[in-house]
Amino acid sequence: MLILGIETSCDETAAAVVEKGHRVLSSVVASQVADHRPYGGVVPEIAGRKHLENLVPVVQSALDQAGVTPADLGAVAVTSSPGLMGALLVGTSFGKALAMGWGVPLVEVNHLHAHALAINLGSRRPRLPYLALVVSGGHTTLFLVSSALDLAILGQTRDDAAGECLDKVAKFLGLDYPGGPEIDRLAAGANPKAVRFPRGLAHAPTLDFSFSGLKTAVVNHILGTGGIKGPLNHQQAPPIPAGELRDLAASFLEAVVDTLVGKTIRAAHKHGLSTVVVSGGVAANARLRVKMTAAGKAAGVRVLFPGRELCTDNAAMIAGAAWHLARQKRFAGLDLRPSAKMKTGTCQDARNA
Ligand code: KG4
Ligand code: ZN
Repeated sequence: MLILGIETSCDETAAAVVEKGHRVLSSVVASQVADHRPYGGVVPEIAGRKHLENLVPVVQSALDQAGVTPADLGAVAVTSSPGLMGALLVGTSFGKALAMGWGVPLVEVNHLHAHALAINLGSRRPRLPYLALVVSGGHTTLFLVSSALDLAILGQTRDDAAGECLDKVAKFLGLDYPGGPEIDRLAAGANPKAVRFPRGLAHAPTLDFSFSGLKTAVVNHILGTGGIKGPLNHQQAPPIPAGELRDLAASFLEAVVDTLVGKTIRAAHKHGLSTVVVSGGVAANARLRVKMTAAGKAAGVRVLFPGRELCTDNAAMIAGAAWHLARQKRFAGLDLRPSAKMKTGTCQDARNA
């Protein structure tokens, strides 16, 4: 079965055609980074409007590149949660219109579920069960993936997502948007031990994460004071010499990476899992890839990362996850409502279980 996937939960307009849940025939992503860069973050109103402009050409390119017509499709899949409400509304409305017009079933997909399964679109597919760390601008969540349709949340961030923390600190340092790749670039070859920043909840038994204290610690370190005056977003660090800035970026990134690696390996041990998959935009980070792989090796855990283009937001992962739902005829009605908060269904919170 061929599925057309549509992803519009944040600032990428994406469409893809995937066969049998794993063979990617096309994957088209229209990035809105340039539209949001002047504001230093995603502006929800602009995101929704850009999705509206981009969807028709992006879907058309996905069909053309795959060499298929609507008549070849078994379903249309849309991201229905979590995400920016306006952005989700545009994508789900468009998906409903296509499904109705073409006479094909509609499938709704949870964005995080899709990130956790994205590894199956590559050549190295993990055996079930596995642990998935989904780490992006909006989420930092550990899932126990028991089957393709059965995910349990073992831990998640209590405040900022890791990518959000990277982006906010980068903004404070006067770096370009999005900040994660900038920090990645600056940290390469610099000294990660120059400054010791806190690893949030590192010694707590919980598998939850916390990154807001780290963000505050970086700001306080730079300002040399004990407290922040005013919202972080409106502050800007004083100019920092280039070498010092690189060491600072490396030390900050090290704290983010150590936190992610520590909790993930602990979760794998606790649940007896021998495979870890790391997905989401932050999984593109070079230091995270190196340290997670090394920690996995030391702990006897196999660590897999999807290719970088499958780590960041894309629609191939939406079509991939949708295939498992479509096989079980778990279709959505045209009364489908998107939700900014994560819908449960395939993902259950197991933290208090
Ligand atoms: O998955 P994604 O494309 O969108 C969300 O669902 O949020 O992730 C975007 C996040 C941003 O916070 C961005 O700064 C971060 O991923 N990111 C990186 C890198 N590339 C993207 N963070 C660290 N290093 C990178 N190379
Ligand atoms: Zn994402």
